[in-house]
Amino acid sequence: MNNLWQAEAPANIALIKYMGKLPGNIATNPSLSFSNINFKTEVKLELRCEDKKDIWMPWEDSGDLLSEKESDRFLQHLGFIKNHYKFNGFFIVRSRNNFPSGCGLASSASSFAALTMAAAQAISSLKQTPPPPVKELASLSRHGSGSSCRSFFMPWGFWDGVDSGPISFPGIEINHFVVTVSSSKKDISSTEAHKTVRTSDLFVGRERRAEKRLKELMSSMSTGDWRLCYNLVWADFWDMHALFETSNPSFGYISDDSMFVLRVVRSYWEKHNDGPLVTMDAGPNVHLLFRRDQTLHQNELLNFFREKYLVLG
Ligand code: DP6
Repeated sequence: MNNLWQAEAPANIALIKYMGKLPGNIATNPSLSFSNINFKTEVKLELRCEDKKDIWMPWEDSGDLLSEKESDRFLQHLGFIKNHYKFNGFFIVRSRNNFPSGCGLASSASSFAALTMAAAQAISSLKQTPPPPVKELASLSRHGSGSSCRSFFMPWGFWDGVDSGPISFPGIEINHFVVTVSSSKKDISSTEAHKTVRTSDLFVGRERRAEKRLKELMSSMSTGDWRLCYNLVWADFWDMHALFETSNPSFGYISDDSMFVLRVVRSYWEKHNDGPLVTMDAGPNVHLLFRRDQTLHQNELLNFFREKYLVLG
């Protein structure tokens, strides 16, 4: 009998951000993201008949380590999935990322999505039940980490309340890169950020602003108004970072290097009236999204940033 199951899931970068949540990781505002399988987490589950608890172990040949807090959170989610499907066995869990974690590259999204997929595969094969539908898995995964529900949908995923799903923008194909100005672990996790932003005066109105931008972004993606897409995506990540900076206590992720990259991209847009979409997660690194037909802009900007930073993509 097979006793090993493996799954992989992409990280996703939100263009309209999930920031602020209710219990059960129900987002206070809708969000939209791009999933990129070049940034992925793999999870492997091995059934352990003799053990009485799940354990996390590093992937054999990878240097990836989770802190005790991170592995507890991961195993707690596995417990939640097992409980949901009324499964009593225990697993060894191994995971690895092909990109740096905890620095604003959305590693919790890919890791919780991959864990949910692997657990569902294992349980349905052991219980000989049909594999659960993707939307059900996305919804379960959301309980582990909210943004992971969008990683089930490629290339675009939306999430509103408890509902997440795919969305398409025909004719728009994206090359996504991250200008990695730092790969150090962040001090404040996104989970903490969701709680603290409620203390900001700017939190009132966040839901309405994000909803309005999302509507406008979907329409400008459909009509191909790339400049408007850039403005909306730019405004939404600044909105989120303004919440961080105006919270009590105030915190933030934007470094001098992040500011440098942002200013270069803004000047580029001013000069060429064209360029990439720009966004930042809860971290200092800057995400650039080019349309496939923007090869010249892509080469020019990335070659410039490569002289100073590691560009992943
Ligand atoms: C800044 O999904 O990491 O990346 O639900 O507490 O696990 P938890 O938070 P998480 O929040 C991600 C927030 C964000 C923006 C986004 O991806 O939409």
